[in-house]
Amino acid sequence: MDTKKTKNLLFVCLGNICRSPSAEAVMNAVIKKADQTSEFVCDSAGIIGHHEGDRADSRMRSHAARRSYDLTSISRQFRYKTDFDKFDMIIGMDDQNIKDLQSQARNQEDLKKIVKMTDYCTKFTHYKTVPDPYYGGEAGFELVLDLLEDACDGLLNHLNGKL
Ligand code: 4NP
Repeated sequence: MDTKKTKNLLFVCLGNICRSPSAEAVMNAVIKKADQTSEFVCDSAGIIGHHEGDRADSRMRSHAARRSYDLTSISRQFRYKTDFDKFDMIIGMDDQNIKDLQSQARNQEDLKKIVKMTDYCTKFTHYKTVPDPYYGGEAGFELVLDLLEDACDGLLNHLNGKL
């Protein structure tokens, strides 16, 4: 029997319809490419629950599809009572996400799990957040994917002890 525990990763943005479902899909692709699918579980959630039950934004899905990412996750709100226990890392997309997550942390152990996606970038190091593309144009969705591809590579290297 394989008793190795998986590392559980939760990606969080505001609405869980653009950035965090993309992060989940990009990270799953990076993990698959590294042949490490048995070692990780990825999920995503939103600070707000306005889009609960919705698929990812159609603009985000079409930009992601052009890079062969299939955004299948369904939006849900972050649940502090269960998510802090279930996940080993909780990865926010911008500073407000981080503040909102920190304000829901119950203790020091919860706080230690909260990190920011762009902290794992190795190419786009001048970006300190993954900017919200919801009210912007096409370029914003491409930038989200560029940043996530860089950050997810860096995150897996970090988890593998290489960074
Ligand atoms: P996300 O983008 O946080 O990347 O999913 C947003 C989606 C919806 C809203 C805001 C941001 N909204 O206010 O409805």
